[in-house]
Amino acid sequence: MSTSDQATSVLLQEKRVFNPKPAKQLGFDRWHIDSLEQYKALHEASVRDPESFWREEAKRLDWFEPFHTVCQWEAPDAKWFLGGRTNACYNCVDRHVQAGHGEQVAIIWEGEPVAPRTGHPASSSAYAKEPEIRRLTYRELQLEVSRCASTLKALGVKKGDVVTIYMPMIPELAIAMLACVRIGAAHSVIFGGFAPHAITERAIDAHSKVIITADGGYRRGDIVPLQKNVEESVTQLANHGHIINHVLVVKRTGHQPPSERFKTGASHIGATKFHWWHETVGASGDACPCESMDSEDMLFLLYTSGSTGKPKGIVHTTAGYLAFVQMTARLTFNLFPDSGQVFWCSADIGWITGHSYVLYGLLMNRVPTLMYEGAPNFPTMEGGKGDRFWEIIARHRVTHFYTAPTAIRTFMKWGDELPAKHDMSCLKVLGTVGEPINPEAWMWYHKHIGREVCPIVDTYWQTETGGHICTPIPGAIPTKPGSCTVPMLGIDAAIVNEQGEELGANKGGLFVIRKPWPSMLRGVFGNRERFISNYFGRLKDPATGQPLYFSADGARRDEDGYFWVQGRVDDVIKVSGHLLGTMEVESALVSHPFVAEAAVVGYPHEVKGNAICAFVTLRGTWYAKNPGKQPSDELRKELIAHVRKEVGALAQPDQVRFTEGLPKTRSGKIMRRLLRDVAAGVEKITQDTTTLEDFSVVAKLRQDDE
Ligand code: WTA
Repeated sequence: MSTSDQATSVLLQEKRVFNPKPAKQLGFDRWHIDSLEQYKALHEASVRDPESFWREEAKRLDWFEPFHTVCQWEAPDAKWFLGGRTNACYNCVDRHVQAGHGEQVAIIWEGEPVAPRTGHPASSSAYAKEPEIRRLTYRELQLEVSRCASTLKALGVKKGDVVTIYMPMIPELAIAMLACVRIGAAHSVIFGGFAPHAITERAIDAHSKVIITADGGYRRGDIVPLQKNVEESVTQLANHGHIINHVLVVKRTGHQPPSERFKTGASHIGATKFHWWHETVGASGDACPCESMDSEDMLFLLYTSGSTGKPKGIVHTTAGYLAFVQMTARLTFNLFPDSGQVFWCSADIGWITGHSYVLYGLLMNRVPTLMYEGAPNFPTMEGGKGDRFWEIIARHRVTHFYTAPTAIRTFMKWGDELPAKHDMSCLKVLGTVGEPINPEAWMWYHKHIGREVCPIVDTYWQTETGGHICTPIPGAIPTKPGSCTVPMLGIDAAIVNEQGEELGANKGGLFVIRKPWPSMLRGVFGNRERFISNYFGRLKDPATGQPLYFSADGARRDEDGYFWVQGRVDDVIKVSGHLLGTMEVESALVSHPFVAEAAVVGYPHEVKGNAICAFVTLRGTWYAKNPGKQPSDELRKELIAHVRKEVGALAQPDQVRFTEGLPKTRSGKIMRRLLRDVAAGVEKITQDTTTLEDFSVVAKLRQDDE
């Protein structure tokens, strides 16, 4: 593990410690947990007697019927709050209206365009001063969600169905998700940056028959053609014999001359009917009760990349997810209702961060959540810079800002003067998520955004964990730049070796969780084997023989018990904070007619954290067509465009290298470690290459490098 050893030596030099400040200094009445001692006592009790701890925590939810058993654990299967019945939408919306908070703001939304909203905003010279802003109260949200829910019912959606959602960051996205869970259907949200093929494979896997989308979404002044992608996917799906019954379309951009298919006024593709949201939602009435759900009924599916080509549908269930997410949102961010807090998580709802900390965690805690539709650099300044995020913070008096290290590194590059122009004295807590944050970025965030007073919570967690696993709790935990510090209450985390033995201080090892927690994944949809082998198949607790949950991250714990996550130890890469399976990109590349073989690796990138390098061998057909020629830049561009089209822009390789062969072991496995070194431009071959089938291949690649 040469890369993590390097990381360790860098991090070991990181000795800075930032102690919690008094609550009043940050304008809080109090901290939920206000000392390290209190945290330690609470954490110790929560792990020693999880039943009592979670029984208390679950009381913060409203139940239709109480649960009789807190947890049943037959590794790897956990059931939480057995016998209980509740509803996620009820806990996020209805109960607040019933308690007299109907007029409070639930969602604040800001659209991207600052130009007249017709035509193409980027090409308009006459910018309006103010963007479009919407504020939805809990009462309005309840009405909108109920309308959408009864429409979904009218379209045949039933309890237990999976509804696919592929939308921009607009309020209707939140409404659609809540509408699903209101009637007991699970949502499967697909990030709007994915290509049609991604919708197709996820819809097939989830047996989904209904898709909710929008005509388009705004992104850096461009329009993302969401409906067009859905149309393409619907056709692909039909070719697989999978018929989507209905597509519900929000008119957001209004840019579309109706695509060819709809020119004649038809509203269907084959057997798939398309409906405009504004013509359909509301037509089936305003009322729709919340379905009573068993604690363990599926709440949602969220697909995440794995080390094989096919993404995994991570299953989360109702009560456990809600209990954990309301708690972590409250403690990690010191949330209080009725105290002027405005929370902004800049993640797209299409990722788990958006599910838990744009939507569910915030609504449950009755703290207004801000959604922003677009890019941080729109309007775009010279050099591609932008200060939209700082403008938004100042405009809405945001108290909590939660973003990704990759974004912070971009802001650093854009310069200190951009945030300095805006009054961000409203900020109280800053958060980061998605990848390890390098200490320099942490310090920049602390100084230029946090005024050197706001605590920074570096939250380590995963799609599979549902909510924060390790994070500082502001007010209680001293922070160290680059460390996600200590485990959340109720989380029994450890660093172990391959034998499952816990390692001592500062020894690099594998990150595991020993006990179940309420929001742990319940499975990989339709794939029991993958669930077990991915998460519970590798490591066992030597003391009990019980399987350990393995996060697939390498990490170490320092002498203070602080965790330092070093990154993935499997074949997935974090690119700009988004997980990507190397196999996904490889499959896309080899689907190109000229590509024979492809190997994809990550290499360190200043802003993205990791970037993608693809090593590609070409088929004879290419050489036959281009006698005597070397693969050109043009072909390189074509392959990059091909990956964008097949997977999405976030999977686009930064480097494409042509090679005559790939270095393989004698058993035929591609030697990725070697390729990673080549991609990163490492000078000398430091790895053990004795098992190389064809060393000349590596030598050739290195030469090309020079
Ligand atoms: C990485 C995102 C270091 C880690 C919530 C994990 C982090 C993967 C951090 C999950 C952090 C997330 N420090 N690494 N604070 N947060 N990671 O499923 O590798 O998109 O396994 O969930 O992101 O990514 P996912």
